[in-house]
Amino acid sequence: MMETGHEEQMVSLPRIGDPAPEFKAVTTQGDINFPTDYRGSWVILFSHPADFTPVCTSEFMTFAHMEDKFHKANCKLVGLSVDGLYSHIAWLRTIKEKIEYKGMKDIEVTFPLIEDITMNVAKKYGMIQPNEDTTKAVRAVFFIDPAGIIRAMVYYPLSLGRNFDELYRALIAMQTADEFGVATPADWRPGDDVIIGPAGSCGTAKERMEDSDIDCKDWFFCTKKLDKDLVLSKVLKK
Ligand code: BEZ
Repeated sequence: MMETGHEEQMVSLPRIGDPAPEFKAVTTQGDINFPTDYRGSWVILFSHPADFTPVCTSEFMTFAHMEDKFHKANCKLVGLSVDGLYSHIAWLRTIKEKIEYKGMKDIEVTFPLIEDITMNVAKKYGMIQPNEDTTKAVRAVFFIDPAGIIRAMVYYPLSLGRNFDELYRALIAMQTADEFGVATPADWRPGDDVIIGPAGSCGTAKERMEDSDIDCKDWFFCTKKLDKDLVLSKVLKK
């Protein structure tokens, strides 16, 4: 492997299916014990590079504006940067008092924002990626399920603001997959057809090809209808 000079800062990334690494932290909403305090809820744990920066400000306003939608899907939000608590408080106050962006104003960020000056949490979650920046977290997103298992991860570089509609879509798609035992195709949204798992035998493949409720493009690629209201009533009510 080519040496980059940042080897000592390398941290292993958590993986999909792993238990979420545990930590205790100070946040803008008080101390938290993660993920224990969040058992029974989905959590989106996300990092941003720095307080008082424009891309991060646009992201926090957008996420805070959508927080109620995430709550209705049994999902809590937890932010993190390697700034200190007083910087976080001052930044969130500035956002509320002064910043107007894309029709959003008076935005109060009520979800916890972790102070991580020691980078303890950021390193556990592979949020410091030294070839991008040695002193700032990248834009990482972890979806953690009600049992404390990492279900999905997204990493973006410092310059790229995230798409929060896509984070919401991914959350609802994973909940739908769990609830109905299906998979979701490209760009799926509630109301679209879902994918049924691959046939495990020749008999099942044949049955599916003959089932009028199932639409098979071929024996290995079968979809079925899943009512939008049924999806929303299941995932938005838990
Ligand atoms: C921003 O949020 O605007 C930003 C933060 C760090 C590096 C580049 C952009």
